[in-house]
Amino acid sequence: MDLQGILEDIVTHVAPLCRQGEVASYIPSLGVVSPDNFGICVATADGAIYGAGDWRKPFSIQSISKVFSLALVMSYDYDSIWKRVFREPSGTPFNSMIQLEADRGIPRNPFINAGALVVTDRLLTLTGDAAGAVRGLLRQEAGNPSIDVDAEVAASEADHGHRNAAMAHLLASYGNLENPVEDVLANYFAQCALELCCEDLAKAALFLARDGVSAGGSPFLQPSQSKRVNAVMLTCGTYDAAGEFAYRVGLPGKSGVGGGIVAVVPGRCVVTVWGPSLGPNGNSVAGMAALDEFTAKTGWSIF
Ligand code: DON
Repeated sequence: MDLQGILEDIVTHVAPLCRQGEVASYIPSLGVVSPDNFGICVATADGAIYGAGDWRKPFSIQSISKVFSLALVMSYDYDSIWKRVFREPSGTPFNSMIQLEADRGIPRNPFINAGALVVTDRLLTLTGDAAGAVRGLLRQEAGNPSIDVDAEVAASEADHGHRNAAMAHLLASYGNLENPVEDVLANYFAQCALELCCEDLAKAALFLARDGVSAGGSPFLQPSQSKRVNAVMLTCGTYDAAGEFAYRVGLPGKSGVGGGIVAVVPGRCVVTVWGPSLGPNGNSVAGMAALDEFTAKTGWSIF
């Protein structure tokens, strides 16, 4: 199969979609990114890399970082995190807190913001530096020591982070945070502000296509844990569009408001896309279309 040719065709086909939707502006530093960027990369389980468009331009990974913080916590703690967060699709937007009070401080899943705050809190307890742990994992798996947090994006989110702060306080009021609210928020904003290009992100997530085996060949997650992270990505990774994503793309996927999406074809490869303009559910419009076309053309879907 001519993967390189498929990626180049996809870049051409999705270009007209890049201005559909809107670039996230509730984090002001993200609002200045041009919607005309579009990149796509495939990293295969046996080490080949293919890319097209702006695949080597770094972007803010935002909620995609939640996959790595969850994987790290599971690598330390097998599955004790599931006492503090459910693993059910929420059917609500990523920043909704409606269910959090009804469920007495237990978030519906680890990928909505409330659940991710709990995961970051646990990682902070386990490592003393949650954002640093996520950065270390990404550097190691991507083989790129220059991966870092964009401090301006993190500060920009902190200045406008009233909703996340409200959620963190509500979690604390139910006894579901182990660390001070301010520390959890600072780590969460920093991990979200990590900057990676499509290539580094695809390499970094490859353990999810390799039954948990890390870039160095050693087990990072157990196969059953890797399966579970993929399962939660499928059901919860794109929030209230998880049904639509499964329908159109048919792969475990995780989006971020920076416009990135990482999708996993277990046993085969990771596909990353980046297009900053978002649809109503906070997922890249061009990115969704690109993944839809990718799985249609390759037949690489879990269904
Ligand atoms: O907490 C927030 O709102 C952002 N740092 C991350 C949200 C996000 O990426 C949602 N994904 N599509």
